[in-house]
Amino acid sequence: MRIVEVLKRRTPGTVPVWMMRQAGRYLPEYRAIRADVPDFLSLCYTPELAAEVTLQPIRRFGFDAAILFSDILVIPDALGQKVAFVEGEGPRLEPVTNGQEVSTLKPGRVLEHLQPVFETVRRVRDALPAETALIGFCGAPWTVATYMVAGRGTPDQAPARLWAYRQPGEFQALIDLLVESSIDYLDGQVRAGADLLQIFDSWAGSLPEAELRRWSFDPLARIVNGVKARHPGVPVIVFPRGAEAAFAQAGDIGADGVSIGTSCPLHLARTLQGRMTVQGNLDPLALVAGGAALEAVIDRILDMLAGGPFIFNLGHGIVPETPVEHVARAVERVRGYNGG
Ligand code: CP3
Repeated sequence: MRIVEVLKRRTPGTVPVWMMRQAGRYLPEYRAIRADVPDFLSLCYTPELAAEVTLQPIRRFGFDAAILFSDILVIPDALGQKVAFVEGEGPRLEPVTNGQEVSTLKPGRVLEHLQPVFETVRRVRDALPAETALIGFCGAPWTVATYMVAGRGTPDQAPARLWAYRQPGEFQALIDLLVESSIDYLDGQVRAGADLLQIFDSWAGSLPEAELRRWSFDPLARIVNGVKARHPGVPVIVFPRGAEAAFAQAGDIGADGVSIGTSCPLHLARTLQGRMTVQGNLDPLALVAGGAALEAVIDRILDMLAGGPFIFNLGHGIVPETPVEHVARAVERVRGYNGG
């Protein structure tokens, strides 16, 4: 598997490619399946359908990796917090706002609740070509907590940031619970057949440096170490979106790869390559625009990063309005690149 080789720093001739949110609403075949289920979480918990939508982008584009179709918010759902995805609005949760509410969450039911997700992993691994890797994932504790505390997506993650300043001890209890549940969840995915893992800290960029260490990098390190203690050979990619500069300054957290956001300067990415495999940072809107603009952005990324251990990807997820042909064009361009 090309992507696993690159994560072990054995750089193959061609840059591997996959795309965050490669399964989703921009694909007509996804929309067809989605139309037949009552809600998004039912899709995540129906192994037959979740496996099918995981495989759809692989059939169409031949990506180097499939990513398990699930969501980072299945962990709060498994912990017993009420979670719903409202059409056209995004996630809605019953907010967890104090230590007493944290203590009502039920870590003991996480693994049993997530059995359907493990079944999806088994089905996808069975169906995938041997050369295609299967990526398991979870959200980072900080990013998952921002949704658990606010009860929804927010522009600035203010409710979690305020709680962390005002009651750090209570907030730490929530983070610790998420660290332990995430290790168990990722362990279950590897046992079921995931070849590598990614931990999404999409909102790391909302924290100042000192807070980042406590709420983002330390919990990430604990999850990476916890998973590696059980599965030393399984590569782990972390995605500290918007906090790449602080991440580069911080000590080694044990991850094999770092996924970088669109705003991360490529010279910084190149420095990071001295230490680990880099993935990213195509602007999802360049993929919407297509044409010469898309080609220029792709070529610049490859010129800067293809000489070292690199996985081509976006800086954030594919958006629903992305034309399918632009994705095909991007994959072709990456595959056709031979060092300029
Ligand atoms: O193809 C894949 O990437 C695999 C599946 C996947 C989904 N979500 C499916 C999904 C993955 C890896 C995620 C990660 C995720 N989910 C993140 C981290 C990455 C990021 O984008 O920052 C976050 C923050 C979430 C939380 C989440 N899930 C939100 C805020 C929303 C609503 C916004 C939206 O795009 O609709 C979701 C819903 C969601 N997760 C959809 C999909 C395909 C769309 C739901 C639908 O089909 O109705």
